[in-house]
Amino acid sequence: MQSRYNYLQGKKKKKWPYIVSGTIAGIFIGVIVVWVGMNDWNIDKSIEELRNLTEVKQTVEVGKTGESIVEKPIVEEPVQEIPVKEVPVVEEVDMSGANGYIGHEILPEEPTVKEDIVIASKKYPLPSTYAPGESKEARAAFQEMTAEATLSGYELVAFSTYRSFDYQTQLYDRYVTNDGQEAADRYSARPGYSEHQTGLAFDIGEQHFEQHFARESFGETEAGKWVAANAHRYGFIMRYPNGAEKITGYMYEPWHFRYVGEELALKVYEANVTLEEFLDL
Ligand code: DAL
Ligand code: ZN
Repeated sequence: MQSRYNYLQGKKKKKWPYIVSGTIAGIFIGVIVVWVGMNDWNIDKSIEELRNLTEVKQTVEVGKTGESIVEKPIVEEPVQEIPVKEVPVVEEVDMSGANGYIGHEILPEEPTVKEDIVIASKKYPLPSTYAPGESKEARAAFQEMTAEATLSGYELVAFSTYRSFDYQTQLYDRYVTNDGQEAADRYSARPGYSEHQTGLAFDIGEQHFEQHFARESFGETEAGKWVAANAHRYGFIMRYPNGAEKITGYMYEPWHFRYVGEELALKVYEANVTLEEFLDL
């Protein structure tokens, strides 16, 4: 016979499975109700969303080699804008040697004048008939300069100034015979292309120091340094500075000065550029 105690224990044992399963069912139903509610109480939508949630987005295929290929979902890469580099167009014409003459082989009828300056270079030749003689203005400026140089102890001379077309022809031909055309073109202008034909170019040296005439060594002398530092005050510029052959067309000539007037000479000197660069020739 079952005691009252055992009877009560037996009753208790039978109740808890119902409570547990009831609770689980309650939670499950609650979740379903909440899920359907979240999907606007639409059963189809709720099922679809549930499917999306559980869907495996990556599929694995086996390639021919047996190597597994992971098919990744296509992600649109943002289009990267490649900045277009602005490359400055530099018209770098090598004026040295014969290159400077290319395209300028025919002598013009009139000289080129820019900002009141008569231009004579490999790019801007003169008419063969252009024969102004030595510039009086340039000669007067040179006299002034020599007077001041004397005070500093330098006796300056101009050993070559105006040259006619014919004289330049003789000079150039002689240089070509001696050194060959390629070399001659680096230090001597062809007839029609020389600044000396303008009457405004002065080749400057020091009296009694002929060994430095038309030599780079003149730039190393005290007189040469004085001229380089002061010529602009009298309207002269060093026309073929060191390291500018590609621009001017000629090797370094520390003796060759060109009269351009005091105002422009000062500007070119201060800018520390060639006449080509200053006048954008
Ligand atoms: N020596 C200079 C470049 C001339 O011949 O004019
Ligand atoms: Zn000269």
